[in-house]
Amino acid sequence: MKRFPDAHKPGYAAYSKLSLAIYDTLVLGLSNRFIWRCPSEFLTALYNRNLSADHLDVGVGTGFFLDKATFPVSSPKITLMDPNEACLEKAASRIARYEPNKIRADALVPWLRQLGSFRSIGINYLLHCLPGTMTEKSVLFDHLKPHLAEDGTLFGATILQGNVSRTALARKLMRIYNGKGIFSNENDTRESLELELSRRFKNVDIEMMGCVALFSANQPI
Ligand SMILES: C[S@@+](CC[C@H](N)C(=O)[O-])C[C@H]1O[C@@H](n2cnc3c(N)ncnc32)[C@H](O)[C@@H]1O
Repeated sequence: MKRFPDAHKPGYAAYSKLSLAIYDTLVLGLSNRFIWRCPSEFLTALYNRNLSADHLDVGVGTGFFLDKATFPVSSPKITLMDPNEACLEKAASRIARYEPNKIRADALVPWLRQLGSFRSIGINYLLHCLPGTMTEKSVLFDHLKPHLAEDGTLFGATILQGNVSRTALARKLMRIYNGKGIFSNENDTRESLELELSRRFKNVDIEMMGCVALFSANQPI
C-alpha cells in the first residue's frame, strides 16, 4: 500500500493555510453551533474528560481543542498525526508550549510499530472525513489499538447521517461536502459506529448532540 493513497486525499486536501485561517470561526464557531447543533464547548469538555499526560491526536486541524482543553499535567507529551503538512504546522505552532512531536502519516495506512503507546488517543472530527463505509474506515481502530495503553482511552466526535436529527441546512451542507469528498459520511450511522467500536472495546460510550456523536471507548478487546 502507498504511504499516501490518492483515494484518501479528498478527505484532507481541503485544509490549506488559507482555509485553516478561517476554520475555527467557520466550522468550530458557526457550523458546530448552528448547523451540526453541537457547540464546540461540548467538544472541549470531551477533551477535558479524556486527555491524558501522554496523548496522540490524529487528524489535528488547527489544534483548537488541544489548545483550549486542560491536560491533567502541566507538561503533557503530545504527538500529532496528520497527512496534511499545513495542519501539522498550524496545530504544532498553536500548542508550541507543549513541544509536540509531529508525524506526517495517513491514519488509514498501517501505522509504524515504533510509534509507541499512548494513554489517550483523540480522533475528533476525523471519521466523517475518511472514505468508505463505517466498517471500511474502522480499520483505523485496528491500526490505533496496538498503540493505546491497556488503561488508555480512545475518544472523539463525528458527524453522522442515518436517523440522527439533522436540520435542512445540515442535510444540504453534508450533501455538498460529500460531493466534494471532504466528508464521506453517507453510510455513517450511530448504530454502525457503536457496532465497530464494540467489536474492539469492552466499554463504549456514545452521546448524541445534534448530528454529532461524541464517543469514548476503553478496555481494548
Ligand atoms: C475536520 S478536520 C478536524 C480537525 C480537528 N481534529 C478538530 O476537531 O477541529 C479533519 C482533520 O483530519 C485530517 N485527516 C483527513 N484524512 C485523514 C487521514 N486519512 N489520516 C489522518 N488524518 C486525516 C485532516 O487533514 C484534518 O486535519
